[in-house]
Amino acid sequence: MTAATQRPAFGTVLTSHMAVAGFQEGAWSEFQVKPVAPLELSPAAHVLHYASTCFEGFKAFRHADGSVHVFRMDMHIERMRQSARHLVLPQPDPRQLADMVRAVIDRCRDAVPEAPGALYLRPLLIGTTANIGAAATPAAAASLLVVASPVWDYFAGGMKPLRILVDDVNTRSAAHLGMVKTGGNYAAAMGPTLTARAKYQADQVLFCPGGKVQETGAANFLLIKDGQLLTRSLDATFLHGRELGYEVSEREFDVATMLEWIKSGEAALSGTAAVLAGVGTLIYRGRDYRVGGAEVGPLTRALRAQLVAIQQGQAPDRHGWLQRV
Ligand SMILES: Cc1ncc(COP(=O)(O)O)c(C=O)c1O
Repeated sequence: MTAATQRPAFGTVLTSHMAVAGFQEGAWSEFQVKPVAPLELSPAAHVLHYASTCFEGFKAFRHADGSVHVFRMDMHIERMRQSARHLVLPQPDPRQLADMVRAVIDRCRDAVPEAPGALYLRPLLIGTTANIGAAATPAAAASLLVVASPVWDYFAGGMKPLRILVDDVNTRSAAHLGMVKTGGNYAAAMGPTLTARAKYQADQVLFCPGGKVQETGAANFLLIKDGQLLTRSLDATFLHGRELGYEVSEREFDVATMLEWIKSGEAALSGTAAVLAGVGTLIYRGRDYRVGGAEVGPLTRALRAQLVAIQQGQAPDRHGWLQRV
């Protein structure tokens, strides 16, 4: 067995400690760092019935000199606050949440893997008010947690080109909640994604409601060609990911434009977990369309290498994306 096959699947192992804060009577409590353990929650908790929950996902990297750096933490905290606002949950205090992240890393520093691994950080906010008659009443009490997990590849198989089903019927989320990182959106994508896997051996579904290309169940979608990068313009219908420091054109585009582009260009999924994963095949209305040479293309490989080099401290961090902790 190789070292890679012994690694736990993405997200299945947590570090020993987590940070926890509570919101009650209009204020956040001081946070505590505690051993990871089951939560105590009323069976009437708001989150269990009305899905008052949102989360974030980002990574800390160990550099060659042993130091640990978090990637784009402030943007993720801001996105979490945006999610909380849209779900009418108490917004985390950005300074407290950053302190919670730093405290978990500090307590579990030995668990931050060396490259190519990373420590995946997962803040979670849940509505805890005990009330099963609160379908139209927001949770007044909430818990904020930060857990962490040492991770390697998200897509088992590493740089294998992905098969992506183009779905122009289903939507990933309600149109006004696409930009909210909430469990319900992932629940909505689950059925279509499992069906696509069983029927077409697809790795992911690319949601294209009304024929407009949007995103997959857990990553943004990019088209890449000759120094150009095309991705969906920002609106409320999907989750806004990172920039890549490339000539980026952000606009709405449709399935026909995408099928034309992939005759000579490349396609990739981008996100914290996916990093930059090359697409080899798009499946549309029962037919396979090869993306370029059906391999992970050279531009995708180069961009991925550039991004990973910044994260791992081997290339200059021109955007100030890394924060040493
Ligand atoms: C639905 C969805 N879209 C896009 C992304 C990419 O966002 P980011 O680059 O911040 O990880 C994610 C990542 O978790 C996601 O779940």
